[in-house]
Amino acid sequence: METISFFLVYLLVFSILRTATAVDTLFPSQSIKDGETLVSADGNFELGFFSPTVSSTSRFLGIWYKKVSNGTVVWVSNRETPISDNKGVLLFSNHGILSLLNSTNSTVWSSNTSKAAQEPVAHLLNSGNLVVKDGKDKNPAEDNLWQSFDYPCDTFLPGMKIGKNLVTGFEWFLSSWKSIDDPAPGQYFVRINISGYPQLVIEKGSKIVYRGGSWNGLHFTGMKANAIFPVKLEFKLNENEVYYTSEPKNSSVVTRTMLNPSGFGQILIWSDKLRDWESLSTSNLDQCSNYALCGAYATCNGNDFPGVCSCLEGFTPKLVGKWNSGVWYDGCVRRTPLVCNKRDSYHKHTGLKLPDTSHSKVNKTMNIKECRQLCLSDCSCTAYTNSDIREGGSGCLLWFGDLLDMRDDWGQDGQDLYIRLAASEIANIARKRQSTEKERVAIIVGSVIIGMGMLILPVLCIRWRKRNKKGLTKKNHTMDSDEKENEEMELPLFTFGTIANATNNFSVDNLLGKGGFGPVYKGTLEEGQEIAVKRLSKNSGQGLKEFKNEVILIAKLQHRNLVKLLGCCIQGDEKLLIYEYMANKSLDYFIFDQTRSKLLDWSKRVNIIGGIARGLLYLHQDSRLRIIHRDLKSGNILLDNAMNPKISDFGLARTFWGEQTEAKTNRLVGTYGYMSPEYAIDGVFSMKSDVFSFGVLVLEIVSGKKNRGFSHPDHEHNLLGHAWRLWTEKRPMELIDDALGDFRLPSEVLRCIHVGLLCVQQRPEDRPNMSSVILMLGSESALPQPKQPGFFTERNLPEAESSTSNCKSSSANECTVTLLEPR
Ligand SMILES: *[C@@H]1O[C@H](CO)[C@@H](O)[C@H](O)[C@H]1NC(C)=O
Ligand SMILES: *[C@@H]1O[C@H](CO)[C@@H](O)[C@H](O)[C@H]1NC(C)=O
Ligand SMILES: *[C@@H]1O[C@H](CO)[C@@H](O)[C@H](O)[C@H]1NC(C)=O
Ligand SMILES: *[C@@H]1O[C@H](CO)[C@@H](O)[C@H](O)[C@H]1NC(C)=O
Ligand SMILES: *[C@@H]1O[C@H](CO)[C@@H](O)[C@H](O)[C@H]1NC(C)=O
Ligand SMILES: *[C@@H]1O[C@H](CO)[C@@H](O)[C@H](O)[C@H]1NC(C)=O
Ligand SMILES: *[C@@H]1O[C@H](CO)[C@@H](O)[C@H](O)[C@H]1NC(C)=O
Repeated sequence: METISFFLVYLLVFSILRTATAVDTLFPSQSIKDGETLVSADGNFELGFFSPTVSSTSRFLGIWYKKVSNGTVVWVSNRETPISDNKGVLLFSNHGILSLLNSTNSTVWSSNTSKAAQEPVAHLLNSGNLVVKDGKDKNPAEDNLWQSFDYPCDTFLPGMKIGKNLVTGFEWFLSSWKSIDDPAPGQYFVRINISGYPQLVIEKGSKIVYRGGSWNGLHFTGMKANAIFPVKLEFKLNENEVYYTSEPKNSSVVTRTMLNPSGFGQILIWSDKLRDWESLSTSNLDQCSNYALCGAYATCNGNDFPGVCSCLEGFTPKLVGKWNSGVWYDGCVRRTPLVCNKRDSYHKHTGLKLPDTSHSKVNKTMNIKECRQLCLSDCSCTAYTNSDIREGGSGCLLWFGDLLDMRDDWGQDGQDLYIRLAASEIANIARKRQSTEKERVAIIVGSVIIGMGMLILPVLCIRWRKRNKKGLTKKNHTMDSDEKENEEMELPLFTFGTIANATNNFSVDNLLGKGGFGPVYKGTLEEGQEIAVKRLSKNSGQGLKEFKNEVILIAKLQHRNLVKLLGCCIQGDEKLLIYEYMANKSLDYFIFDQTRSKLLDWSKRVNIIGGIARGLLYLHQDSRLRIIHRDLKSGNILLDNAMNPKISDFGLARTFWGEQTEAKTNRLVGTYGYMSPEYAIDGVFSMKSDVFSFGVLVLEIVSGKKNRGFSHPDHEHNLLGHAWRLWTEKRPMELIDDALGDFRLPSEVLRCIHVGLLCVQQRPEDRPNMSSVILMLGSESALPQPKQPGFFTERNLPEAESSTSNCKSSSANECTVTLLEPR
């Protein structure tokens, strides 16, 4: 008894002592050794020594989150000078200089001060900023002798600055890590480029690779306003300094912006629900994010794959052949040269990401009329607009020379731009516009005369919409707002009759397969368009209105690696979804077939892996809906003519069972062989369960073998177990599909296996999220060692498996199970 109570008292005292040592201040008499830390007063941030990965022995002094996302590093001092043992120590060397010493007492890093301090102290503030002050200073709050916020690494925290002191030349900028396990400065920087009107850019060396754009009073012109909703941005521009800084609108919201080693910027917000960072926006949204992809005088449209680039009105491709083959960087040239007199005029474009302002000038007091005059008076001025969009617009921003790096799919987030054209071109545009008006009237009249009612109208509706997208009106932004609304909101409704006709009355001959939510039929519309029709099973338990709303939401999910929803049909009990038809069936049709698998060489397979990853990232992070697929498998990866992968059946789990408020379900949907352990056993799902399924897919694509049903003479492991075994025995190359023949790219294949194994690790928290997966696939940096995968053998599958009697064992991989109360 006594020993036990003594032990309890000891524990109590020990924990009190431990709490007492959680201090936020370092005095000159003290030091921080490896293993000791400073903790900010609110407990949000911690400073101490860390290694970037478990396997790494390098020690760095840094600051990381403590309360949320424990261990996510936000700042590193000795980025380029790691300490090789755990004998590092941080202390004040003299007069307020912080020094980091290694075991031989050599300084591997030190801070700097503007002046010597009498009584220096270092505080780790609640913002994550490490500041050095002079205790003697009368006004210490304002006088930091040094602060870590002046030397950001790859993470931009609220309160930091990015910009430049124009007097001293001191610059605040982000620099990427070299790789996820090496915090040394990498190739990429986020900075404010001050040539012309200052703009936020990501640079690789001195080359711009991405342009966040210039400040328009509310946000950066190259960023969508909704992407930054949780933070209040402030932009300062005067003769002394130019910078931007941010603060959270709600102090209980944790956000950070980071530049990853591949040069992608991401705005992240901590989700308590998911216990993970969610990406609010990323700089590599799509192809159009690449700086000046379309060259001069052209706009980029991320929705128009593979069209992407179009010349501005009044311009024509510089090199037509190259342009038409999809090489756009030469851009466009004027159809009619400027005469450079008062007869030049301006064509107004709306909804644009404004062009590069490297060669621009600004006058903040001018109005738009004066702006136009000023531009007209200078032959080299090519465009103008308001510099500030608040309160109806003010200020004047003028461009000189070529207009670069615009996009026209920004919608509400885009801006107006007046582009200079020769007078004859302006007249041309007006003529064209008139003739499109006529065409539109003709179509409407036509449909009335045909008058065959519901059967025909929906088809016309599609045709009309298509014409609108691709036709002459594309660059004509004078469409009235009602019509725009319609175009955005409306999902084509097909009549049941139309679809019954198209699918030969849902004939067995037209059956393409049976998916998780009902059979899928091939169909051909009267106008010849091929479609795939999913006839949903009837027990969705959802009201009609909710269903329709949900389908409209899904229809808005548009990504080149997602199958496109063309429309739907609701009639009585029947709910049909109409998709684009994929000529090349699904991935399983190829990779698991001896002959057909030869058609998928390595470059196709790696393209498929990358495409699936990007589609999934879009579902998880980049779309507004944040969808967990829950049934990712080879049968749900469809292939188009060019063997590009498109994920299907996304959003259906959500449609059927509503948005789950908690990450636990008592209705299990998924496919054995692809289900993560925590999902199959406990019904707990998260983005990490999709990551698990993705990992299984990657290993299947590399090996050409099914996870479930895999057998090997030497052991009873499934494919994951087999891959793991080969990995630990250092012969992973034996996993590779024989069908790939001699043509091999060893390092890349190996990387895919490595990433696949990281994705199927037992514990969800060990698995990377999809943005890291894309990063890992795309870079050559070292990766962490994978731990043992979940579901190693068939035997540790849950008991409930036996209740899926409706699955034929031969096609177990394809069969989707629906279990009630798995426990
Ligand atoms: C937080 O991270 C540190 C460093 O990685 C680790 O030592 C500590 O155990 C973690 N704390 C919790 C509660 O996970
Ligand atoms: C490093 O400095 C400490 C304190 O000044 C001293 O005790 C120690 O012997 C020194 N170590 C070496 C290797 O010089
Ligand atoms: C300590 O740092 C110095 C200077 O960077 C270096 O030459 C020395 O090898 C380091 N000592 C150890 C034990 O890492
Ligand atoms: C330290 O600060 C001074 C004055 O601010 C500056 O001149 C000097 O270049 C700085 N040194 C380093 C290594 O940053
Ligand atoms: C700004 O960007 C331009 C174009 O890439 C580059 O030439 C220039 O050096 C940059 N200016 C600064 C101050 O970084
Ligand atoms: C701030 O965020 C917290 C947590 O998300 C929320 O509960 C609270 O209502 C928010 N406060 C305001 C003023 O929006
Ligand atoms: C801006 O425009 C106003 C009004 O035309 C003019 O008075 C002023 O001098 C201009 N400022 C600059 C810096 O050119």
